[in-house]
Amino acid sequence: MAAGFRKFRVANKVVESEIITSFYLEPTDGAPVWDVLPGQYITLRVPGSGDPVLKTYSVSCDPSETRHHRISVKREAGLNGAPDGVGSCWLHDQVEIGDTVEIAAPRGKFSLDEASTRPVLLLSGGVGLTPMVSMLHRLSEADRDVHFLHACENGQVHALRDEVLSCANDRIKPYFIYRTPTAEDRAAKLFDAQGVIDKAFMQTHVPIGDYDAYICGPTPFMVAMYQLLQELGVPKNRIAYEFFGKASSLEALAERPVKPARSQAASGAAPTIQALTFLTNPDAWAADEGLDGAPKPAADQSTGDITFRASNVTATWDGTAGSLLDLAENAGLSPEFSCRAGICNSCKCGLVSGEVEYFEEPLIQPEEGQVLICCSRPKGPVVLDI
Ligand SMILES: Cc1cc2nc3c(=O)[nH]c(=O)nc-3n(C[C@H](O)[C@H](O)[C@H](O)COP(=O)(O)OP(=O)(O)OC[C@H]3O[C@@H](n4cnc5c(N)ncnc54)[C@H](O)[C@@H]3O)c2cc1C
Ligand code: FES
Repeated sequence: MAAGFRKFRVANKVVESEIITSFYLEPTDGAPVWDVLPGQYITLRVPGSGDPVLKTYSVSCDPSETRHHRISVKREAGLNGAPDGVGSCWLHDQVEIGDTVEIAAPRGKFSLDEASTRPVLLLSGGVGLTPMVSMLHRLSEADRDVHFLHACENGQVHALRDEVLSCANDRIKPYFIYRTPTAEDRAAKLFDAQGVIDKAFMQTHVPIGDYDAYICGPTPFMVAMYQLLQELGVPKNRIAYEFFGKASSLEALAERPVKPARSQAASGAAPTIQALTFLTNPDAWAADEGLDGAPKPAADQSTGDITFRASNVTATWDGTAGSLLDLAENAGLSPEFSCRAGICNSCKCGLVSGEVEYFEEPLIQPEEGQVLICCSRPKGPVVLDI
């Protein structure tokens, strides 16, 4: 077993909707589960013939749960002849109760600020509700007002509905917004509004307040929610978010031109949110540039020339860039990356000379002479094979 990974038995497998299934994972060594902050994710090794594939899934259960970690996974079926998603379809189609999987400890900076006493807005789209449900459980023990807004297509794909409703009380208000409700959804009154979350809906259902806001879902949803929160006066530093696809910057994406509307606003008013399309595609609109929404590592004041040898570019490290990857991008280069969190190794490159230090330990240490530039900074002059 690879360093950093532990074996867990699939203690239960529960179908939550037509596309989302939960897996309850119990340690095989009998020791307690790892500590997890509400909102964090675990990393799963997907076995295969080549190099192991690593996939990340947010812990969706109560973070205080000591017997198991639970993940809730959307099956990413291949469309128009494309191959099925490797990790999600393996979990859905092949992993059964009693099987053993290998996972690495919870990570991630998208977690509930438990020191804050402010009211909370949890905004999720599609399978992006998983970290929000974990946060919701923790918030149900706190004395804070919570508005849990979840947008999805309809009741057929809506996961964890009853669990969210079971947390509702005087302080915790869940709202479900369906874009295309079915006749059964209408008959059973499964949703609070039809369409998308817009300004009028927020103004009607969410009292004016000094909120901490958390966003997770498909990229267009996140952009729309970010723009909406800004319009409603929520300061940027109160908005935390997590991409389920390639890590990016909501601020940069929010400045892009808006695509034409295809959805009706939940309030029935003229849609102020015009981009809630591709609701099921987490990578739609993902940008290549920018940073994720996580707090940046403390700026290191050390200076030094960083040479990107293959590109014949030199930049100065003065501590203002978050990582070597940021510095390369600021210098106009476009190195490979995906997670920006030391997990996927896609930013791995040759370290020709010099020394770096990691502000986030790589999940799998790169080989001698290689470095992950998304989670490292230089210790003096460095030459990279980029
Ligand atoms: C921090 C974090 C937390 C996450 N939490 C969750 C969670 O709680 N629940 C969850 O469900 N997901 C979560 N994800 C997403 C998850 O990690 C995976 O990205 C997701 O399951 C898809 O992985 P996959 O291996 O199934 O698909 P992949 O194999 O990566 O494929 C992705 C998509 O691309 C399509 N595709 C593949 N090859 C091609 C091709 N050649 N041409 C066109 N299309 C192609 C596939 O059909 C699929 O739809 C999270 C991601 C992050 C970063
Ligand atoms: S981008 Fe994933 S490890 Fe660096």
